[in-house]
Amino acid sequence: MNRYLKLLFAIIFTACILAYSNLFQFHGYCSYVNSEKQIFENSTSPEFPKNLKLRDKTLENSLEICRGDNLKECIPPLMKYKQLYRTSRPNNLVACVIEKTFSTFLTAIMCFLHDQKAFRESNRTLESDIYGERLCKDKNEFTELKKIEKWQKMSIFAVVRNPVDRFVSGFTDKCLREKVWRKYKSRCASCRTNLTCFVDKMYDRMMKFAKNPYKGIDFDDSHFFPQSWRCEFSSHLVKYQILQLDGPNFTDQILGLLEERGVESDGIQFINASLHYRTPHSTQDSVERATVEETVLNSPYLLRKILQMYYFDFLLFGYRLPDIPVV
Ligand SMILES: *[C@@H]1O[C@H](CO)[C@@H](O)[C@H](O)[C@H]1NC(C)=O
Ligand SMILES: *[C@@H]1O[C@H](CO)[C@@H](O)[C@H](O)[C@H]1NC(C)=O
Ligand SMILES: *[C@@H]1O[C@H](CO)[C@@H](O)[C@H](O)[C@H]1NC(C)=O
Ligand SMILES: *[C@@H]1O[C@H](CO)[C@@H](O)[C@H](O)[C@H]1NC(C)=O
Ligand SMILES: *[C@@H]1O[C@H](CO)[C@@H](O)[C@H](O)[C@H]1NC(C)=O
Repeated sequence: MNRYLKLLFAIIFTACILAYSNLFQFHGYCSYVNSEKQIFENSTSPEFPKNLKLRDKTLENSLEICRGDNLKECIPPLMKYKQLYRTSRPNNLVACVIEKTFSTFLTAIMCFLHDQKAFRESNRTLESDIYGERLCKDKNEFTELKKIEKWQKMSIFAVVRNPVDRFVSGFTDKCLREKVWRKYKSRCASCRTNLTCFVDKMYDRMMKFAKNPYKGIDFDDSHFFPQSWRCEFSSHLVKYQILQLDGPNFTDQILGLLEERGVESDGIQFINASLHYRTPHSTQDSVERATVEETVLNSPYLLRKILQMYYFDFLLFGYRLPDIPVV
């Protein structure tokens, strides 16, 4: 039953994408546009722009960004770029991790589950199992689903995050705070701390990859390429349970999922204790981050380009497209 439900959702998703990109005239059936529906149902009428202005002088309709002729300016969804999996055999569980989306912590959780005894004996906590020195390096880690024995029989999930949030947070952490470009000149697209330059360059890189997928994993690409290009979503999206890191119940959801997979209560408590330290928002918030976010949300140029990059991530993973200010 579950499988059929998932399949149904996949069909709805696909239908919504087609609808948004205006290949067929059935937009309005996708629940998250209902509020905007009325405004846009007459979008083919020549009067449309005027009507829109009447309703709201300050906003451009972000749904229009990738529809009709505009579609070719947008980065396509569901390319196959790169994937990283962490498994826990005792729980028959596979997690796909995506950089800048809870990835270090999820890696630590999966390592803990993979071998709880070893993890505890190493005196590690989920916070101290940091990426470079992680306990499970190469032990429960895979780069393709088909390399995981009997993966079809396992549960598989991924954590996603609001695309603008992920972008802003990635730029702030890597380019402004860590300044990774000091040591590696080409990182941050050789733009150092210039946000406009970075947005332009990343857009061009994504477009280049979409037209002609290249081999070779690059630091910037890993952190900023669309989430829908990861996890072999292109062929296996329906098999996934997707959790929104910034959804209202992330902690409950992930603990619930682990309980379902047979993680005992002392294991749940071990994880819960650490999860509680780092609720998705509070810890990562900073003045710098907020400034970058404000810059992006108030710049029609930057926001439009970022939406062109991640439009389909918004739709596929159920996030609301932010409105573009008109200046
Ligand atoms: C839609 O536009 C057409 C052509 O301008 C107009 O005749 C029609 O009444 C409009 N429909 C609605 C619901 O506004
Ligand atoms: C973990 O801590 C215990 C108690 O403090 C100690 O005996 C043990 O050697 C430590 N193990 C490791 C791997 O550090
Ligand atoms: C940032 O990059 C943009 C686009 O590449 C460029 O036009 C602008 O002059 C740069 N700003 C600074 C302060 O270097
Ligand atoms: C999700 O959160 C809401 C409000 O925060 C709460 O009422 C609801 O019970 C939660 N659902 C689950 C499944 O935990
Ligand atoms: C996780 O910890 C919080 C705070 O200690 C507690 O309120 C919550 O019930 C715990 N959740 C589970 C599933 O144990």
